[in-house]
Amino acid sequence: MVIELQNVTKVYDGSEQPALADVSLRIEKGEFCLLTGPSGAGKSTLLRLLFCALKPSQGEVILHDQALSQLKRDDIPLLRREIGVVFQDFKLLPHLTVYENTALTLEVRGTPQVEIDRKVKELLIQVGLGHRLNHRCEQLSGGEQQRVAIARALIGDPFILLCDEPTGNLDPERSKDIMELLLSANARGSTVIVATHDPTLINNYQRRILRLDEGVLTSS
Ligand SMILES: Nc1ncnc2c1ncn2[C@@H]1O[C@H](COP(=O)(O)OP(=O)(O)OP(=O)(O)O)[C@@H](O)[C@H]1O
Ligand SMILES: [Mg+2]
Repeated sequence: MVIELQNVTKVYDGSEQPALADVSLRIEKGEFCLLTGPSGAGKSTLLRLLFCALKPSQGEVILHDQALSQLKRDDIPLLRREIGVVFQDFKLLPHLTVYENTALTLEVRGTPQVEIDRKVKELLIQVGLGHRLNHRCEQLSGGEQQRVAIARALIGDPFILLCDEPTGNLDPERSKDIMELLLSANARGSTVIVATHDPTLINNYQRRILRLDEGVLTSS
């Protein structure tokens, strides 16, 4: 199994209600899951725990047989290199270009420049941004920024792909293209979790559904 949560509870500082309450879950390698539930149900919290951006208040998160509570601070960047993530608020580097934001993961890995160039351009064309390579991200529309975030997450062929509302700013046609890209990453071996409110995604792509309601996993 690639992802496991054991009785995970998360209570944010200053909050009484847990954002996640006693969530236990196993996801096998190669699965594609849709994570759903109303606004405030805890979807982003769950994804942030998997990316080590948050620590659980109780319980354990295990990725690839590695208990995250046992990780040393220095190990976290290494773990994150294996994870592609599309944040709900993108977290792009605004002054860098579309090309530069997408290329970063491969540069950190020391991938040869020719290969970076080929991969980045190919993927940016696939997400419909072939004409925006040299625009700074701060100059883009919300939907364009979302597609840069998706390209950045996909570029390194990550073992785990976490996508927080990846189609939230896109029209239906573009959403379909993006879902196809996520499915093809899954077919190449990535384990994928997509958090979404969108009922059409859930109806159109019959996949494993993880449902949260007020922090409780009500369907898995
Ligand atoms: N940094 C934070 N500090 C305190 N409370 C937080 C923080 N982030 C989230 N919460 C609270 O935790 C709960 C779960 O939030 P979360 O962002 O995980 O929900 P969500 O399911 O992703 O919602 P949405 O669909 O609106 O994105 C909410 O009640 C929210 O107010
Ligand atoms: Mg959210």
